[in-house]
Formats: sequence, structure tokens, C-alpha cells
Amino acid sequence: MRDTIRFLFGETERAITNPAPTATVLEWLRAPVEDGGARACGTKEGCAEGDCGACTVVLGEPDGPAMRYRAANACILFLPALDGKQLLTVEHLADPDGTLHPVQQAMVAHHGAQCGFCTPGFVMSLFALYHAGRGGARPAALEALAGNLCRCTGYRPILDAARAACAGPAADRFAAAAAATAARLHALAARDMLCASRDGQRFLAPRTTAELAAALAEYPDATVLAGGTDVGLWVTKQHRRPATLVAVEHIAGFADIAEQHGMLSIGAGATYSAAFAGLTAHWPALAPLLRRLGSTQIRNRGTIGGNVANASPIGDTPPALIALAATLTLQSTAGTRRIDAEAFFHGYRRTALAPGEFLARIDIPLPVPGDVFAIYKVSKRMEQDISAVCAAFRLRRGPDGRVADIRIAYGGMAAVPRRAAAAERALYGQPWTQAAVAAAMAALDTEFAPIDDMRASAAYRRLVARNLLLRFLLQTTAAPDTPLGLAEKEEMAA
Ligand SMILES: Cc1cc2nc3c(=O)[nH]c(=O)nc-3n(C[C@H](O)[C@H](O)[C@H](O)COP(=O)(O)OP(=O)(O)OC[C@H]3O[C@@H](n4cnc5c(N)ncnc54)[C@H](O)[C@@H]3O)c2cc1C
Ligand code: FES
Ligand code: FES
Repeated sequence: MRDTIRFLFGETERAITNPAPTATVLEWLRAPVEDGGARACGTKEGCAEGDCGACTVVLGEPDGPAMRYRAANACILFLPALDGKQLLTVEHLADPDGTLHPVQQAMVAHHGAQCGFCTPGFVMSLFALYHAGRGGARPAALEALAGNLCRCTGYRPILDAARAACAGPAADRFAAAAAATAARLHALAARDMLCASRDGQRFLAPRTTAELAAALAEYPDATVLAGGTDVGLWVTKQHRRPATLVAVEHIAGFADIAEQHGMLSIGAGATYSAAFAGLTAHWPALAPLLRRLGSTQIRNRGTIGGNVANASPIGDTPPALIALAATLTLQSTAGTRRIDAEAFFHGYRRTALAPGEFLARIDIPLPVPGDVFAIYKVSKRMEQDISAVCAAFRLRRGPDGRVADIRIAYGGMAAVPRRAAAAERALYGQPWTQAAVAAAMAALDTEFAPIDDMRASAAYRRLVARNLLLRFLLQTTAAPDTPLGLAEKEEMAA
């Protein structure tokens, strides 16, 4: 057990004993040195809820002998999460002699800033893109920058800067020092559990699932903390002050992703960024959904386990997991148990988790030949927006073309993400035609009573839910050379 976190701040090793459990990295960065902060004010606060990107920093983690650099929102990142990582801010990018980093130089050359408030955040997102090896072309740049808002420059000059700076492989001093930095991080990585406390709050970071189970048995009211992209907002926006946080980020194997026993098995601690390749290899339709889930910064920290355990009726992955017949493994000191994803959600933000229990793993059966899967997210904005309605469909047809099995799940239509049992019943054994789907669309009206809220009216939700089922039919039956067929094919393959 230890009470001190160690990390690299730029190239300097820092140690903080008993870091405040819910102090954010942004607060620490901007606080005066005499108050224990870093007084590094390049990183800005815009929204304090992960939306604007003004607070974007980059976290470096060893990836074997190399380094992996990913953007994160410092405003919802708790200070103890820095343990074992490298934290880079806009202050670290220029060389000691003042020579700007290539992404900074490109922002200057392409006039990528006016008032400059958003600029450090953009620069850090561009730095992460520069190190991602994906190039700086428009699709990669749009994805990397979707979580950064600029109110006065406009995005075209910034996209130009991305294209210019990120075209080739990373060749800055961070790339040159990657092996040495990784070795330093490996050397300072702790093997034992962190137990920090300050001002009546406690932060535990177990290293094994057994330690996690023991910690939750001792503190059954503790808040499990994964990426903190939900929990962070409880602190910054709702001013909640959880007494005990138990972080899962450092648990060995908790974020592993593997194919085994006919399943894609995803550790509850896997982030969206880490799970993207495995998920989209089997279900390409998930790619456009995941690219629209939050922003790059959010996907780098947010976990699928957190999305499920949060039990929001409008979380994006539960409809997919329910439609794909996923099972969840729940664990505690009493052992493990498995339940169907659809049985996990008991009511508005209520789940099957018993006190002391945590979500350990998500298993998704691999598709069988002929399976068709689609998922559609409807939200007011394309990027960085929460679903008004999210619908997932998995269809299996028999040799006669009739519906042999169909699973339909909706988010945003009830207090929990839920299967459309009546619509499914209306389709079983039917030919996959507009007439059969029309009956299922009518059945949807009988089984959902959505609410009016700021995201959509109940009437709109009903209409969209029906039409998304129709869209699925059209998508699966459209001739490939029609405009619809082409568009849908592109989306499914994206
Ligand atoms: C700007 C922004 C945009 C967002 N956009 C989207 C979006 O487009 N779609 C979407 O669905 N969500 C979105 N979210 C919400 C959030 O990012 C997701 O719900 C995310 O998956 C939460 O994961 P996390 O690891 O950050 O969870 P955390 O915040 O760490 O935890 C969330 C909840 O799950 C519990 N928990 C976490 N892991 C476990 C576990 N293993 N066992 C038991 N309980 C656990 C926590 O105690 C907490 O109750 C957005 C959030 C922000 C801030
Ligand atoms: S301050 Fe807006 S994302 Fe952090
Ligand atoms: S330069 Fe002013 S907000 Fe982007």
C-alpha cells in the first residue's frame, strides 16, 4: 500500500503524496505553486465538462519499449489518474531554445489562431494526431479535432495546419526520446495498491481484481471509477464529493480484449479507443457509431464498462450489446456470475449490480455467416452529442429468406435501454418485407412510451424508432447500385 503517485510532468518526475481524490488535473495545472499546483496556465478551462477541448492535455503511456500519446480532457481527469503516466501540456512542446513544435509552427504558418483561447487545446490534439501516425488528411484531422471548439478562427486554417504538420511520421524530440521515456515510466510504475486520502476523501487504485473486490467489500458505497467521463461531471457540474473512489484503471488484465470461445471478450476497463479495432473488425456498422461517441478525448478515457454500468437510458453501447446478445460478467468477493446484457438494466440508472459487485467483462458472441447488424444514432449534432434515439438490429434469415431470428434494441425510448419484444415477435417467421416490417413498426408503438425532453419530443422519438426499423429493412434489401444501397453499403463498410 502506498499514498504517493509518481508521474512525468514533461520530462520532470513529480511525486504527490495524498493527492486530493477529486481534484482535477486542470485544477492542479493552474493552481499556484505555493498551493501545491504547477502554475502552468497554458491549459484553459472552457466548459469543465469534457465538451470544448480547451483543457486538452496529452497523456503518454509506455507501449512496450515505445510511447503512446493520447489526448484527454484535463477538466474531468482526476489527479491520481496521472500515476505512472507522462503528462504533456502546451508548455512542453517547444524546444528549450524556443523553437516551436511542428504542430505549433503549422498553426502559426496557417493562421490557426485568433483570440487564442482554444489554441493550446487544439495544439495538444494536433500533437496527439502527429504521434498517431494516421497522417493529417481531412478525415483523420476531423476525428482528432471533433472535441475541440473554436469560436473565432474557424476550422479551415486549423485543418490546413493539421494537414501540413501531421503528414509524415513523428520526428520530434518526443519521438527521439520515446524508448528512454518508456523506460523511465516502466521504472516508476508502482506494483502495489494506491491508497490516498485527503480532506475526508479516499482514493484507492487496486492492481488486481481480488484487491478491487476486497476494496468494494470494505467500502460498499464506494464509487467505482473507470475513465471518469461520467463521474468527472458529477464532481465538476453537480458538486458531488464521493467519500471513496475505487479506480479500475491500473488493474492487470481489466482492459484486455481477446477472442475466445466464440466470443469477443472485452474487459470492462477497455476504453473505446482500445476496443475500436476489435469491435469494428466483426461489426463494421459500429465504426460510424463509435466515431460519433463523444470525442477522441472522451473515447481515449471512457470505457465500455462505464457506459454499461452508468445505466443511462441514452448510452450508445447498451443497445448494441443487447442486440448482439452480449453477456456480462459481474464479480465480487463471493465470486462471479454472468447475466444477459438486457437483464442488467433494472430501472432508470438502476442495475443488477449488488453492493460490493463490479462489472468485470463483456462477452459478445462472434457473428455467424449471414448475420446482418446495423446501429443508428440520432442526435441533434453529428459530433459530440448524446443520442435522442439509438437503435440496434441483428437479423438472421433462414434458407427461405424468412426471419429466423431478430434482435432489436433501443436507447432513448424508455427508462432503460430495452429490447423491442413485440416488434421482434411480429417479425419472427415472416418474410423480410415491407409488409412484415410495417406490422413490427406498429408493434413498436404499443411497447414504448418515450418521454419529451431537451433532446427530443416523445412524438419524434416514436417516429424515429419506427423509421429506423424501416431504414434497416431498406438497407438490407436495397439494390447495391441504387443511391440508398450505395450509401448504406459505404456506411456499413466504414
Ligand atoms: C463530452 C462527453 C461526451 C459524451 N458522449 C457520449 C456519447 O456520445 N455516447 C455515450 O453513450 N456516452 C457519452 N458520454 C458519456 C460517457 O463518456 C460514457 O458513458 C462512458 O462510457 C463512461 O465511461 P467511463 O469509463 O468514463 O465511466 P466512469 O465515469 O468512470 O463511470 C461511469 C459509471 O460507471 C460505474 N462504473 C465504471 N466502471 C465500472 C465497473 N467496471 N463496474 C461497476 N461500475 C462501474 C461508475 O461507478 C459510474 O457509476 C459522454 C461524456 C462526455 C463528458
Ligand atoms: S474545459 Fe471544456 S473540455 Fe475541458
Ligand atoms: S481562436 Fe478564439 S476561440 Fe479559437
